Amino acid sequence: MLRTVDGQTGKARFMTQATTIHNSATTATFKSLKCKECGAEYELKASNVCELCFGPLEVLYDYSALRRTVTREKIQAGPNSIWRYRPFLPVATDNVIDVGTGMTPLVRSHRLARRLGLNKLYIKNDAVNMPTLSFKDRVVSVALTRARELGFTTVSCASTGNLANSTAAIAAHAGLDCCVFIPADLEAGKILGSLIYSPTLMAVKGNYDQVNRLCSEVANTHGWGFVNINLRPYYSEGSKTLGFEVAEQLGWQLPDHIVAPLASGSLFTKIHKGFQEFVEVGLVEGKNVRFSGAQAEGCSPIAEAFKQDRDFIKPVKPNTIAKSIAIGNPADGIYAVEIAKKTGGNIESVNDAEIIEGIKLLAETEGIFTETAGGTTVAVLKKLVEAGKIDPDETTVVYITGNGLKTQEAVQGYIGEPLTIDAKLDSFERALERSRTLDRLEWQQVLV
Ligand SMILES: Cc1ncc(COP(=O)(O)O)c(C=O)c1O
Ligand SMILES: [Zn+2]
Repeated sequence: MLRTVDGQTGKARFMTQATTIHNSATTATFKSLKCKECGAEYELKASNVCELCFGPLEVLYDYSALRRTVTREKIQAGPNSIWRYRPFLPVATDNVIDVGTGMTPLVRSHRLARRLGLNKLYIKNDAVNMPTLSFKDRVVSVALTRARELGFTTVSCASTGNLANSTAAIAAHAGLDCCVFIPADLEAGKILGSLIYSPTLMAVKGNYDQVNRLCSEVANTHGWGFVNINLRPYYSEGSKTLGFEVAEQLGWQLPDHIVAPLASGSLFTKIHKGFQEFVEVGLVEGKNVRFSGAQAEGCSPIAEAFKQDRDFIKPVKPNTIAKSIAIGNPADGIYAVEIAKKTGGNIESVNDAEIIEGIKLLAETEGIFTETAGGTTVAVLKKLVEAGKIDPDETTVVYITGNGLKTQEAVQGYIGEPLTIDAKLDSFERALERSRTLDRLEWQQVLV
């Protein structure tokens, strides 16, 4: 290993001489990996922890080059996927894995907005993100492109479900070997949604944090590319596109307030980085965007740290139906708290009953079926509005990050049932009358 001192900052730089950097000078706008804590810089290899202070590493870009070369017009010229923002993503070649991820609808909400008493509410709908119906397809597209550049042939992840689906699907598309790890007790849709792509699927008897610990050991011994461990600095950059797209879809403007779910806290911090980068290179005008986060009460270490004004996270044992965001020891939790505090946002939690109500509310008012993470986010949005913590006139964006068809167990027993009838008109008429009477009774109960 080569240790040098950065001439400008005086900070230590560590370089492994043997590593080949597939960084073509003509296209790459990313320069190094930088420790978020002490600022030490490292070369662009598969590594996520600072060797000096164990802080997390983040990708550093050449912003002056970006300012010179990036324009709104070039971005708008496409492609119609996250790769329209390629200069802001940590990949060196044009040979990217493009499975149509990104550019999901930003829906102007009318009925949910009215129900909540908001005037300018938008829904960023990643429940229909391609190819596996969650925002994780964004981060995995970036991570696997980078994994290929770094020479990995086997890719892997520690997942709460959605990430395993994305890694398995996109690895299949790219022809990479794939071994994914999940807690054994996930929803059937999440398990099937990985198995269909024929990865090796390890269902670990334990919670996500135990899965993650095991994966760190495997990453050290097997030399695989773990998208959210040794490739984490590259992987996490994919979430910035959820910031970029919202800014572009709002007509090159930032919103006033965003509400997003928190598991490890990565998505939240990267939406923030995405907005900052667009300001930095002059694509949008700067302003303070308030960042509010959503957790499930049964796993709310970040919300607790926020409420108790702590600068450290106390790990918890998850117990909630919102399994996709059940991370008890969140790697980026403290950075999420910092952002919520500094921007004047909030981090709230809701219980499982409220999460189910959140899923139903979004479905009934907007025709969007989200999973438990989305139910958590909608329920927290409602709670924040009711507490007066979101102004009705703020342009507010709520991030819906996953699809409800994957977590059907969560709502079974809480929704209606089909009216089974004979294939005869009178059977239909009787059933219709019965259902109207039931509706009337329900309304009477509501009015009493
Ligand atoms: C649907 C969904 N939303 C949000 C998140 C939160 O992601 P992060 O770990 O980046 O906070 C996850 C994480 O797995 C998820 O599956
Ligand atoms: Zn460091």
